[in-house]
Amino acid sequence: MKDYLKHPIFSIISQSADESNLRAYVIGGFVRDLFLKRPSTDIDIVTIGSGISLAEMVGRKIGKNTHVSVYRNFGTAMLHYGKWQIEFVGARKESYRRDSRKPIVETGSMEDDQNRRDFTINAMAISLNKDDFGQLIDPFGGLTHLEEQIIRTPLDPDITFSDDPLRMMRAVRFASQLKFVIEDETFNAIMRNAYRINIISKERIADELNKILLSPKPSVGFKLLEKSGLLALIFPELEALKGVDIREGKGHKDNFIHTLQVLDNLSRNTDDLWLRWAALLHDIAKPLTKRYDSKQGWTFHGHEVRGAKLVPRIFQHFRLPLNEKMKSVQKLVLLHLRPIVLSEEGITDSAIRRLLFDASDDIDNLMMLCEADITSMNAVKVKQYLRNFELVRNKLKEIEEKDRIRCWQPPISGEEIMAFFGLKPSREVGIIKTAIREAILDGIIPNEYQSAHDLMIQEGKKLGIYPINDKRKIDFLKINH
Ligand code: CTP
Repeated sequence: MKDYLKHPIFSIISQSADESNLRAYVIGGFVRDLFLKRPSTDIDIVTIGSGISLAEMVGRKIGKNTHVSVYRNFGTAMLHYGKWQIEFVGARKESYRRDSRKPIVETGSMEDDQNRRDFTINAMAISLNKDDFGQLIDPFGGLTHLEEQIIRTPLDPDITFSDDPLRMMRAVRFASQLKFVIEDETFNAIMRNAYRINIISKERIADELNKILLSPKPSVGFKLLEKSGLLALIFPELEALKGVDIREGKGHKDNFIHTLQVLDNLSRNTDDLWLRWAALLHDIAKPLTKRYDSKQGWTFHGHEVRGAKLVPRIFQHFRLPLNEKMKSVQKLVLLHLRPIVLSEEGITDSAIRRLLFDASDDIDNLMMLCEADITSMNAVKVKQYLRNFELVRNKLKEIEEKDRIRCWQPPISGEEIMAFFGLKPSREVGIIKTAIREAILDGIIPNEYQSAHDLMIQEGKKLGIYPINDKRKIDFLKINH
């Protein structure tokens, strides 16, 4: 460990601390990750005294116009050195939170500072002063808990969670990321204090959700959220997937368990956060569309359409970006049944073309999601589905090579239709455009200009519209651009 601290940055901090007569320690996530052998580039330094003075001293020693960002109200300072981001703070008596907007009130001792941290594994510190360089200060047995893979709070958990209720989600997130267990007392306190999560901003909650989603087996985190009572408070739509109804002896699968299986299946093949979000949300509207019919049993008709409509609302709620990523998630939710239906009902060229057109660049992700969606316990059925999927994949490849439908635009644009017939933007333009697109996707005409042009004339005739001559066409284009 001492070897690791041989990096020049630590000796610079060490010298600066000694010259300023300050005690300095590296603390928190960096120390935890050092023992876990997880690469980390964020270093937190605590000093007994002014974190800002120490940072300025370190900045001067590094030289080369090092910029030190000072946040005087919060008593913190930050600088970059190579790949490292180093934050300096004076030891404090109150709860430590990097993103707190509350000014610091009371400075404290090292013991105070360690007491007010979230978990024992995050409260370890290593001294940087020359006289005891490299000495571990671990008052709560954090190192043992790392070995035992336990998450527990340094103080009475009711106090630690009341200091910052987000820590309840952090406990779940660390359990999911590190495959650790939350110790009973700590977990009971989460159940007792869960209701206080409502004072936490949606951004901070979403940050933790994202980290749970990105963990090796995200179901671990979501099951803990559910069991602790947090899920019902932060994500009621997901909680609503839970449970099985039985009528006339007929049941359906537990959609919460199913969703988590899909998420885990998918997570074995991709680290893409948004694709993992799509897995989490793919059946989100099942509770809203659930019906019972004595012939068919339980149905969830249209859950993919209702689910796709919910996606922007859920993203907005968690202040997640409402951009192309969200649109991809929405598209995957909307289309998640298509490949399976296709494989069951016959793989025609036109159905494949349509799927390629609708899914566009998301087609590979869609296929990955659909394969993860096969969670049947019946091995014969699973084998059958996977075989059908292989056929769908082959056909997709074949049609794509032949027709280049993916990211495709029909050969005649709306503008050209308007110019040709001398039309303003109108319903008729849409009708002709759709007719051309549909005819190509159905394989009625080939995907090429001349056939599309001929069809445009025919469709115009049906609507009682005729071409204008070339000169007027050019004038029309000029006026309208
Ligand atoms: N901390 C805390 N309570 C919080 C957030 C942070 O006590 N709500 C303390 C912990 O000691 C933590 C340190 O501040 O180790 C640094 O916080 P942060 O960078 O947010 O988390 P890390 O533990 O480094 O983990 P990660 O980077 O994975 O979020």
